[in-house]
Amino acid sequence: MSKLEKQFTKTAYDPLDKRHHGAIHVPIYQNSLFAFDSYDQFDEAMKAQLDHHIYSRGNNPTVQYLEMKLADLEEAESAKCFASGMAAISSSIMSVVSQGDHVICVNQAYGPTREFLGSYMSRFGVETSFIDGSSMEEWRSAVRPNTKLFYLESPTTMYFELQDLRKCAELARSIGAVTIIDNTWATPCYQNPTKLGVDLVVHSITKYIGGHSDCVGGVVLGSKELVERIQNNEYMLLGGIMTPQTAALVAKGLRTLPLRMQRHEQSGLQVAEHLVKQSYVTRVNHPGLPSHPQYELGQSQMSGASSVFSFLSSEPLEKMKEWANRLKYFKIGVSWGGFESLVTVNRPVSDEKTSDHSAAIVRLYVGMEDPSDLIADINRAWEQVCNPVA
Ligand SMILES: Cc1ncc(COP(=O)(O)O)c(C=O)c1O
Repeated sequence: MSKLEKQFTKTAYDPLDKRHHGAIHVPIYQNSLFAFDSYDQFDEAMKAQLDHHIYSRGNNPTVQYLEMKLADLEEAESAKCFASGMAAISSSIMSVVSQGDHVICVNQAYGPTREFLGSYMSRFGVETSFIDGSSMEEWRSAVRPNTKLFYLESPTTMYFELQDLRKCAELARSIGAVTIIDNTWATPCYQNPTKLGVDLVVHSITKYIGGHSDCVGGVVLGSKELVERIQNNEYMLLGGIMTPQTAALVAKGLRTLPLRMQRHEQSGLQVAEHLVKQSYVTRVNHPGLPSHPQYELGQSQMSGASSVFSFLSSEPLEKMKEWANRLKYFKIGVSWGGFESLVTVNRPVSDEKTSDHSAAIVRLYVGMEDPSDLIADINRAWEQVCNPVA
């Protein structure tokens, strides 16, 4: 049985609590507190708070159900769900570093993560070095005696470059540092970093895991010890918790995750392969294409590809924005992971990454529509931009 087939079974509903009257979907425990029959029981629960339901800022049964499902899919020991991907990211980072520590982070990580590390955490005496991250030499030379954290995002948000997860985890361990990876792009279906030695995995649940553009959430996964430390500190103290309603929505989305990822992978590659052949495209950044410079590395640490990728164009930025205006299936918008395909057009970050002097970087999210409709949409919009009267 393939890994993805096994995951179909893992997403099936398995009631934790037999009192659910055969409910076919996880019930929403819409309550802030849980009462006890006796003071002895209450005292017992307070001694082991993580194993009991006392107060929903700590442990709510609907949220806990989702956490167990996610840990199983990600093949991690433990999981904790948060109000957003950024709550999961900031909490996991804060759980690892203290004043005077040093962090190494990939420079093309998700923007707010870079801002959190580079600007916000510097107020508390935590310094971050940003590196490209695709060569191990760079990681080695960035290490300082006080390096406590390697922050990875593989593939990265806009250029879809990879880091060697096994080697990064090995190097970090050898200097006593912790590794955190943002695994939102690959999802638990296509990459399980804890199996490759990474300590903590974070996801924006808002994207593929939720899958329907109807909720915002995040999760941290890893060893019981590290996740419990986050739960006892950043989760309880900062209070960025996931609500039971969101957990129930996500649990519903999770049941179709492997099925959706199969479709996204196939459609994404089809659209990417089409774009490679277009005259206005100078490079397609998609880790699932054999032309990706780190394709082999990708094959060695991911079992599939999702459907967010970018392409560079030497056409003027304004022309590419006009092309985006004319697309019908691709909506202009941030985020991804729901039904609708999406597009954003930006200026490339630096000449180093675009030695061909591209003028625009276009990020596409390929949704659930028929890929032949999406390709026709791309062609029609380009035709209209080039021949505006047609
Ligand atoms: C790769 C990646 N990580 C993290 C986040 C943050 O997630 P959220 O918006 O759920 O806080 C995003 C959101 O766009 C993202 O794209």
